[in-house]
Amino acid sequence: MSGKPGAVPAQDLTPLEASAELESLSRDIAEHDAAYYQDDAPKISDAEYDALRQRLNEIEAAFPELVKADSPSQRVGAAPAQGFRKVSHAVPMLSLGNAFDDADVGEFLGRVRRFLGLDEDETVEIVCEPKIDGLSVSLRYENGVFVQGATRGDGTTGEDITENLKTLNDIPMTLSGAPDVLEVRGEVYMTKQDFARLNRDQKEAAQKIFANPRNAAAGSLRQKDPAVTAARPLSMFAYAWGEVSDPVADTHWGFLERLRGWGFPTNPLAEMHDRVDGCLAFYRKVEEQRAGLDYDIDGMVYKVNRLDWQDRLGQVSRAPRWAVAHKFPAEKAETVLREITIQVGRTGTLTPVANLEPVTVGGVVVSRATLHNRDEIARKDAREGDTVIIQRAGDVIPQVVSVVLEKRPTNSEAFVFPDTCPECGSHAEREDGEVATRCTGGLVCPAQRVERLKHFVSRGAFDIEGLGAKHIEAFSSEGLIKTPADIFRLRNQTEEISTREGWGEQSANNLFAAIEERRGIPLDRFIYALGIRQVGQATARLLARQYGSLQGWRDHMDAAQDRESEAYGELVNIDGIGPSVADDLLGFIAEDHNREVLDDLQVLLTVGDFEAPDTSSSPVAGKTVVFTGSLETLSRAEAKNRAEGLGAKVAGSVSKKTDYVVVGADAGSKAKKAQELGVTTLSEQEWLALIG
Ligand code: IVH
Repeated sequence: MSGKPGAVPAQDLTPLEASAELESLSRDIAEHDAAYYQDDAPKISDAEYDALRQRLNEIEAAFPELVKADSPSQRVGAAPAQGFRKVSHAVPMLSLGNAFDDADVGEFLGRVRRFLGLDEDETVEIVCEPKIDGLSVSLRYENGVFVQGATRGDGTTGEDITENLKTLNDIPMTLSGAPDVLEVRGEVYMTKQDFARLNRDQKEAAQKIFANPRNAAAGSLRQKDPAVTAARPLSMFAYAWGEVSDPVADTHWGFLERLRGWGFPTNPLAEMHDRVDGCLAFYRKVEEQRAGLDYDIDGMVYKVNRLDWQDRLGQVSRAPRWAVAHKFPAEKAETVLREITIQVGRTGTLTPVANLEPVTVGGVVVSRATLHNRDEIARKDAREGDTVIIQRAGDVIPQVVSVVLEKRPTNSEAFVFPDTCPECGSHAEREDGEVATRCTGGLVCPAQRVERLKHFVSRGAFDIEGLGAKHIEAFSSEGLIKTPADIFRLRNQTEEISTREGWGEQSANNLFAAIEERRGIPLDRFIYALGIRQVGQATARLLARQYGSLQGWRDHMDAAQDRESEAYGELVNIDGIGPSVADDLLGFIAEDHNREVLDDLQVLLTVGDFEAPDTSSSPVAGKTVVFTGSLETLSRAEAKNRAEGLGAKVAGSVSKKTDYVVVGADAGSKAKKAQELGVTTLSEQEWLALIG
């Protein structure tokens, strides 16, 4: 098994590099775990996630002394979400090690044989079961009665979803002839058909649309109201056990038979093989059937059949030694690329989009896929009329993977990436070192204009009730608004608006009232609303805090156009803003049409000065602080947050203007510079004492 291609092999890292990479991998994995387990909204594909975990495992294997108690390798999944009672699993719910290719499967079987010390002529029966892409649950029966059902959670502690699980037809409420205590484990899932139907209903009812059957199952299972779960079509396959008061079988195959006897569905495709070739042939057979199955599977699980051997094999770091998951590659499909179109984003990025002959991939109909950028099209030589392979991994946008050259029409022509913006005709250029090609038209470009207007009224920005993306598109195409300021002049067009189809005087007045309400806006929201590249909500807040007022901000930005100026130094010295963000900010401010927009808005709006938190009693209000070295009791982000909450400014580097430098362990040049400049340095303890 190997990690990301192109990465430095784990064993070639220096301990310092290894430690830094482990830290960043742990952070990323924790974030993705939370997105997956708590929000049911994964941000990356399973394969990408597995690659992160794999890399972490490799580095930890090469540097065992760097394995931390809270490393993701020591946990399974994420902590339970709030709201449900917690259940601790009497027997932990394990995860599975991964095999990515045939060789990994061979190694797994080799390890099993070596561990058990088997002779060459001894056969090892392996049960091969499809790996269901759902949610694992544990069902507890006492004296044959279903008493508790729980999610996996982090493997040790899950959520109590007993009432919700009682609504599943696949789960028997009573068992006859079962041990006094029996925990049955399995996977709850939604069939592709049920998923499609549910989403259709959700859409009609203007309710949340689920990205895939797994998310739909997760969302349905974790309802506060069991009646909602009852109305959702959920299914289950049983495949494992937790706590049992008496042995239930001698083999896994025998256990599956007993499960069926009690009335649990088990996967009908499961087969037993006793050679690696047989396992692999079965894997390929199921992979071919995959798209046609009515439920999502993401691989094959191989399990040693004899339970006495399973016992002897035991587990390593939360995964059994007697089982492994052989993952399938992302689902692919073949279709025809009808046309390549170019989409223009808010910041002018030209993204090539493949418009496809609609095709089903993993239960979802796909008719568009991304071709990423100019280089990617050239690398794949994707042409209109080509037959292409597309791939949908997890919830990420479908992508074109490759071209089936044998099926290329004889008259096809290479795609010529435009040098001008398809929306406004402005020159499209590519900056050094960037992959993106951008339209230089700025607000002259209707596509950018509309995208920017949508951003301007979006949730974190002006958030005008009743003026969503759809209205912006319509009003723009009708010429009612061109620039953000036009929104605040819409009242002058009462006639045009109240006579639009579906509108009347009342709805027009409601809209005007909602707009009026936003004539006053805090500075940070205002800056964010401008849609400057790299200036998200957090950066906008930093700027508002630093410069206080709209005029103050503009004056400083004008002064900072001179990269030698003190104003520029101040800008790039804000912790969280560097030269790259500064470039985008200053580039935006320098453009005439942006200045006009700002002038216009400044007249129409009241932009509130940044309101510093009440820091009248704060000893560090208005002081500039630099943190350096590693702090013991606070993370860097916490330290920064606390300081800012007390009215201090946190800067990234030391200058004459710095009031305090807080020096943690292993501090380097910043501590030295503070001494040279005669800036007060404080230890972490002294800092904490100062701020109380
Ligand atoms: S056996 C001790 N069998 O995969 C081993 N797991 O990556 C327990 N899964 O948490 C798992 N289908 O949610 C097993 N046929 C199957 C499975 C299966 C899906 C899931 C399960 C588990 C995860 C491990």
